Amino acid sequence: PIISILNGPNLNMLGTRQPELYGKETLAHIEAACRTHASSLGLAVEFSQTNMEGELVTSIQKCRGRAAGIIINAGAYTHTSVAILDALLAAEVPAIEVHLSNIHQRDSFRHHSYVAKAAKGMICGLGSHGYILALDALARLINGNAE
Ligand code: DQA
Repeated sequence: PIISILNGPNLNMLGTRQPELYGKETLAHIEAACRTHASSLGLAVEFSQTNMEGELVTSIQKCRGRAAGIIINAGAYTHTSVAILDALLAAEVPAIEVHLSNIHQRDSFRHHSYVAKAAKGMICGLGSHGYILALDALARLINGNAE
């Protein structure tokens, strides 16, 4: 089974971007940890990052009928993008939303997520470990051990 891990704007800046909020790890580190953990679960990983909303939409569309699960950190588009919500609804692939920071402790404009409306669940505030937890959750879903 293929899990598509999709990262949105500014996540290419991890490591140097507000490390007090997002940690010192780079996105390449997170990718490597996801690949190692996914292979221990018998899952294949596609990992990508884009700063462009439309590219995220296209990547989500490409998951339909092909990927077994989606892990998405849509960055700031989480809070603005009806297009990403619609793409997730159309894809009909179980999606887990991840945020490194606890968006509910931050600015009020970060409290609302369009992605959440289409996500099976959301993990936030646990840093890069959230991606690993999301892989575990999808493995359980795929194997039929969870709702
Ligand atoms: C983020 C939270 C968003 O509010 C922010 O715009 C990001 C990163 C996170 O992972 O904590 O770019 O998605």
